[in-house]
Amino acid sequence: MQCFVIEGGKKLSGEIRISGAKNSALPIIAASLLSDKRVELENTPDLVDIRTMIELVKQLGTEVTFHRNTLTLHTPKIKRVDAPYDIVRKMRASYYVLGALIARAKKAKVSMPGGCAIGPRPIDLHIKGLDVLGADVEIKDGFINARARKLKGAAVDLQGPKGTSVGATINTMFAAARASGITTITPAACEPEVVDVADFLNAMGCTISGQGTHTITIRGHDYVRAVRYRIIPDRIESGTFAVAAVITRGKITMRGCNPAHMTSVLDKLGEIGAKVNRSVSKLTISSSRTLRPANIFVAPYPGFPTDMQAQLMALLSIVPGTGTIKETIFPNRFMQAVELMRMGADITIEGDSAVINGVKRLSGARVMASDLRASAALVLAGLVAKGKTTVSRIYHLDRGYDRFERKLGKLGARIKRVNE
Ligand code: EPZ
Repeated sequence: MQCFVIEGGKKLSGEIRISGAKNSALPIIAASLLSDKRVELENTPDLVDIRTMIELVKQLGTEVTFHRNTLTLHTPKIKRVDAPYDIVRKMRASYYVLGALIARAKKAKVSMPGGCAIGPRPIDLHIKGLDVLGADVEIKDGFINARARKLKGAAVDLQGPKGTSVGATINTMFAAARASGITTITPAACEPEVVDVADFLNAMGCTISGQGTHTITIRGHDYVRAVRYRIIPDRIESGTFAVAAVITRGKITMRGCNPAHMTSVLDKLGEIGAKVNRSVSKLTISSSRTLRPANIFVAPYPGFPTDMQAQLMALLSIVPGTGTIKETIFPNRFMQAVELMRMGADITIEGDSAVINGVKRLSGARVMASDLRASAALVLAGLVAKGKTTVSRIYHLDRGYDRFERKLGKLGARIKRVNE
């Protein structure tokens, strides 16, 4: 296995380019199964999860080329309709082929995704969406077996115990795109990645409106056309580098990003003491002399994103005073806390809330990544800790950050990837 070795204490400064959004590209690759025409995706990030999704669609019948972040996909016909366990267990987003296969081939057999480090990951809302549109969905021997003689548009209610669902909104859109008649999804997720998937489907010839609001309307039909589409920038990668600028008291300019997707994160960083200079596709973040603690309440978009919670915990660990974080979406998403405490952070976890008392300095240590965003938080802490930090199990991080240590190195970080 590989790990990062980081020498802390360096201010990061310079300019990097932000990659395309992982959480857009994954469903959009699955959406290409809906079409028998050529699909060209620009600004596709080169990540382990993207390579896994490519392997999956290739098994289902898609011809793929991937060169310099342009991904070309063509599925003249569907060869198989099953997503095997060994792929789904690696990447939960494999479940996006469920809605796409039901739409294209009217049947699908996808392994149950199971849970992951950040908590149980139910898919009851995904199944509900397909069921309301007329699919027969049965869970048997660890697989979701779905088939539909005919998909019929309907009103789909995706209200779950924690609000609506990004994944279920997207899977339901896929099936509705090929259902006869009109489908409405409420409450629909409003995340920019959901909007990107809907915009891609429209570019491919679908008829979707309301994306970005809590009610999405889809008029189903079979028309498709060849499409070239550009994936939106990754707002969580941008947010992670924005925290890197503040935590190291440096100055980082990000090109190819979209600050309009990051309002809640930029507002919170400004409250803590970041200086934010933004334009349509460029963002420069630096830090004022004094930093102040903040209270963070995770919420669905446009609220503060759960995918930025771990990174802010690392930052609050070295801000004088007491900050709090309330994680309302994933109950077990504080795995980074115990590792930060090994570096000297003063954090108390009570259920879905964390209380962080800032310390003067973190100390470098051997720490272990547990999930994608927790690993980013540990790297951020290592950048500012005294001495050497070794972050192991960085395969978690490679799932969601494109050339992370190369971008950090370009900004002056002393970080290297070594084989353990
Ligand atoms: C997407 O996950 C993202 N993943 C997550 O990013 C992100 O944290 C999450 O949305 C919330 O924004 C991808 O896009 C690949 P949800 P998803 O369904 O779709 C519950 C990252 O770090 N729920 O919106 O799985 C669920 O348990 C990853 O990039 C149900 O109850 O999230 C959670 O509490 C991590 N039933 C809440 O809804 C369901 O059928 C929101 O989950 C589905 C979800």
